[in-house]
Amino acid sequence: MSAFKDGLFEGKVAFIAGGTSGINLGIAKRYAELGAKVAVCGRDPEKAARAAEEIGHGAIGMSADVRNFDVIHGAMKNVSEQFGPLDFVVSGAAGNFLAPVNGMSANAFRTVVDIDLNGTFNVFKGCREFLNTPGASLIAITAGQAVNAMQMQAHACAAKAGINQLVRTLALEWGPDVRVNGISPGPIAGTEGMKRLAPNDATRQKHYDRIAMKRWGEIEELAESAVFLSCDSATYITGAILDCDGGSGVGDATPPSLERGLA
Ligand code: HXC
Ligand code: NAP
Repeated sequence: MSAFKDGLFEGKVAFIAGGTSGINLGIAKRYAELGAKVAVCGRDPEKAARAAEEIGHGAIGMSADVRNFDVIHGAMKNVSEQFGPLDFVVSGAAGNFLAPVNGMSANAFRTVVDIDLNGTFNVFKGCREFLNTPGASLIAITAGQAVNAMQMQAHACAAKAGINQLVRTLALEWGPDVRVNGISPGPIAGTEGMKRLAPNDATRQKHYDRIAMKRWGEIEELAESAVFLSCDSATYITGAILDCDGGSGVGDATPPSLERGLA
């Protein structure tokens, strides 16, 4: 069902931070299927090795923590030496748990901001010297919580809001050589994120009702958005946050009758 032609990313090199599971792994697989040489990283080396095997096409799986600038910079240096300059970099590593501010320590808040926001700074700053320019495409994986506040998500809301502004600022500073965009996924089925945010049937049903598309998204749908933003059909798009969220960011689509208990 993809509109993209085989071999679209032949000769391209992609680095996906946090690409060892979930949405980011889906992006890595799609880039590789389309011909890119792909490297992914996460903290767990065994998980990274399994991801590389799943991606196939000679993918590299590395252990690197995005919270450590030298480590992530070194990982991307290593990949550019093996594969050549980086055409596409995706920053998608994230951490999350449900907790009210009264139930999270300063360290808990800092941990999520460190992975999501500081991690994205480290990935983007760290890759700059290894990019294939002009024409390189950077994508940050953000979330609707950057714009719409959500209870028990103060850490992720703050971190993702920071990511959106980092994307916009870098688009200004690094154009025209580098395009910098974000993708904001809605709830995506079969992911660690939704296991944490909607852990039971009642919360899942509430999510379905309020989304215009009346379903959760698929990892493959997210991957298609990333391919679009990276490919030559998007050469005039920078500083954008693309909502791939079934309309969840637009507003609550719960039928009024349901909302008022009349259904
Ligand atoms: C309150 C908690 C907590 C919880 C951890 N902490 N879980 N506080 N409620 N449920 C606190 C700990 O007590 C500690 O604070 C601090 O957070 C750091 O915890 P560590 O376990 O030491 O951190 P670390 O090993 O670095 O693990 C990071 C993690 C973990 C974020 C806590 O959950 C993780 O590794 N997550 C990665 C996978 C993941 O979350 N994927 C989902 C991404 S989806 P103290 O004070 O005790 O030291 C996503 C959805 C986006 O992002 C949609 C919304 C934006
Ligand atoms: P996931 O499967 O938990 O993926 C997180 C990835 O990041 C894993 O590869 C993880 O591997 C890695 N990671 C975590 N901390 C890291 C660190 N400090 N350094 C390096 N790598 C690290 O999550 P997901 O649910 O697919 O979410 C992926 C992205 O989409 C995230 O940015 C998330 O915020 C965003 N998002 C998801 C949803 C959703 O519905 N799931 C909705 C909106 C936004 P290790 O654990 O081995 O480190």
